[in-house]
This record gives sequence, structure tokens and C-alpha cells, in this order.
Amino acid sequence: MPYKILEKARLNSVVWKIKVHAPTPAKAARAGQFIILRIDEKGERIPLTISDADPAKGVLTIIFQEAGKTTKKMAAMKAGDSFADVFGPLGKATHFGKIGKVVLVAGGVGIAEILPVAQYAKTCGNFVATIIGARTKELLILEDELKKWSDRLIVTTDDGSYGTKALVTGPLKELLEKEKFGLCYCVGPDIMMKFVAETTRPFGLKTFVSLDANMVDATGMCGTCRVTVGGKTRFTCVDGPEFDAHLVDWDEFLKRQKRFVDEEKASLAAFGEQHKECMHKV
Ligand code: NAD
Ligand code: FES
Repeated sequence: MPYKILEKARLNSVVWKIKVHAPTPAKAARAGQFIILRIDEKGERIPLTISDADPAKGVLTIIFQEAGKTTKKMAAMKAGDSFADVFGPLGKATHFGKIGKVVLVAGGVGIAEILPVAQYAKTCGNFVATIIGARTKELLILEDELKKWSDRLIVTTDDGSYGTKALVTGPLKELLEKEKFGLCYCVGPDIMMKFVAETTRPFGLKTFVSLDANMVDATGMCGTCRVTVGGKTRFTCVDGPEFDAHLVDWDEFLKRQKRFVDEEKASLAAFGEQHKECMHKV
């Protein structure tokens, strides 16, 4: 079977790691790119960032959080099961090259996506300072893996259960006040990326964000992943996912992301209402 799950492991109560046999995407994958995955013929198409790729073995690693209906179904799959499609790699690869000193910032499940960027940054010969944050110790992932690719690793938790008690923007500001960096790269929840952009802006530090826009076709045709960057319309699936954080229209982006969630909730509620009799029987 194509796209067979080779390994599945739980990283915390809501985040899973899957290794899947997908030779074509694994051969071409670069840091910063993503795939579109479909569980079965009728399944929705969901974008997932590539966390690691082994071109020789044809294996992709994806890390995802159980959130919507598809990721919940994925969490219930096991080694030996197969996906209907793993399509990619999509999006533009990270290509900042050798800058000197770079600071990487990641929050929550976004930490999975900073790992290939850290490998890339280090391999290009940069000094890499990495800041990772989670709400609580239990939700923190990939600390050891990131240590390998970072010259300095700062860990934060919102509740102080591990590392520094802060949001990621706290140590970022302190670091920028003390040292000069050539680039910041950030992945995480939308609101975090907006605030990282606002933290680096006064320092004039070039900052890239990897946007996790809602997507449908992922070919630049449907417009779902539209974002305004520097006054121009861009499509995250083909022009991104990486954009200059200081040029993103954050208010518009956050509104569009929220609208999608609200619409999904409304359609689920409508579905529940229409099917309540059979749901009660179940
Ligand atoms: P979370 O809400 O637990 O936040 C993780 C960390 O981000 C926090 O510990 C904190 O340090 C930082 N943070 C959060 N809000 C902040 C703020 N206002 N200011 C400064 N820092 C802040 O993260 P989560 O639950 O893992 O996030 C899930 C969300 O992230 C989902 O909505 C998902 O779509 C999104 N996501 C985005 C990407 C991407 O590519 N950008 C990747 C994966 C997930
Ligand atoms: Fe349709 Fe990007 S997902 S244009």
C-alpha cells in the first residue's frame, strides 16, 4: 500500500509523531515545506509541515496536534494503516543561507516545524539561538532534538512548570536588547507570531514567519489561504508559507483564520442539529 504508516508515537497528550512511507515527497523535501494529506478517498485535504525527511528510505516525519476531525482520526490510526494521499512537498523552502547569528522562536506544536529550520540554519554555518515555549511542561516537545542544532536553547512555559516562566516574547526581547542578530524566524500560533513580529520590529530585525493559513486546494486556485503582505495579495500555499513578518497584515489574517474556525464550528453544530436523533441513539 502507498503511504503506509511505519511508526506512530505520542509526544504529549495532544501531539503525535508519524513516520510515513512517501518516497517522492521525502526525496524532494526541504526545510519550511509542507505536504497535503488525505486519510481516505472521502477525506478532507489537510496541510501539515514536514518535520523531517529521509530521502534514502523514502520516509517523511510529520508531527500534528489533535484538533479537528481529521487529526483526531489520524490520532486513532496505527502503524500498518495507510493514508490515501501524501502530496508534496509544497510551498517555498527556507533559503536564508548564512546570515551570522539567527534567532529561532517557536511555540506549542510549532516547535515541530522549527526543527528542520534549526537543522538548516546550523548546516548553513549560522550561530543559532532557539527559544521554545509551551503552556506547561507536559506540552513541551523536541527539546533534546533542538539542543543538537542550537548553540543556545531557551525554554519557557506560561505557568513556570519548566524553564523560564514567560511567553516566548519575554526572553526574545531580553536577548535582542543584549545581542545583535541578523535574522529571526518564527513558527507557532498566529497570535504568537504577531507578537514576535511586534517584538522584533523596534530592533529592525528581519523576521520571517511560517503561516499556517487555512487551505483547501493548496494550488493557488481557491484563494482560501489568502494573506496580504506589503499591501499585495499572496497565497500561503504557493507564495509561502514563509513571509516577512513585518509586512503581514496581521489584523486581516487573524480575522480570516477565526472566521474559518467559526464557520467550521457552525457547520458542525448544524450537522449535529440535523442528526441529533440518530446521534442520541448512538
Ligand atoms: P499555545 O497556545 O499553547 O502557545 C504556545 C506558546 O506560544 C506559548 O507557550 C507562548 O510562549 C507563545 N504564545 C502564545 N500566545 C502568545 C502571545 N499572545 N504573545 C506571545 N507569545 C505567545 O500553542 P498551541 O496550542 O500549540 O498552538 C496551536 C495553534 O498553533 C493552532 O491554532 C495551530 O493552527 C497553530 N500552529 C501554527 C503553525 C504554523 O505553521 N505557524 C504550526 C503549528 C500550529
Ligand atoms: Fe487555495 Fe491556497 S489553499 S489558494
